[in-house]
Amino acid sequence: MIYIGTDIVEVRRIRELMARWPDRFIRRIYTTTEIDYCTRQPVPAIHFAGRFAAKEAVKKALYAAGARDPIPFASIGIDRTPEGIPVASWTGGDAKLQLSISHTNNHAVATALVVTND
Ligand SMILES: CC(C)(COP(=O)(O)OP(=O)(O)OC[C@H]1O[C@@H](n2cnc3c(N)ncnc32)[C@H](O)[C@@H]1OP(=O)(O)O)[C@@H](O)C(=O)NCCC(=O)NCCS
Repeated sequence: MIYIGTDIVEVRRIRELMARWPDRFIRRIYTTTEIDYCTRQPVPAIHFAGRFAAKEAVKKALYAAGARDPIPFASIGIDRTPEGIPVASWTGGDAKLQLSISHTNNHAVATALVVTND
């Protein structure tokens, strides 16, 4: 089966959270790999917003696939291939995940798939 999740995030909202709780927000939500990548980009908030949307999309797909316990943001990691393709992982199980992210200056969207063998 294939289970889908999607999410959209306003970049402005992420920028506000980063300004309000500079360290706390980032450390609670993001992995060090994500922080390293996003902070190296010209407009970090856009990429943090993309990864926020990605984590929400992965959560939705995992819940659709039957996950029942709360899924912490930090349990979902977003990495990149050398080509820039986003790759999601989850420490809470062995779900097979597929992910796509897009963003403008104002919004970020992500779609995630959980693929199971049944
Ligand atoms: C991949 C591509 C379509 C992205 O288009 P874009 O409009 O710049 O992308 P968006 O702004 O909508 O989204 C950006 C996100 O796309 C994702 N992305 C980047 N490169 C990607 C790729 N090659 N494949 C899939 N997703 C990709 C990333 O998640 C990125 O966000 P991030 O930098 O925060 O991780 C475009 O950059 C492209 O055509 N690149 C050339 C790819 C290429 O030559 N590949 C070689 C093999 S044929």
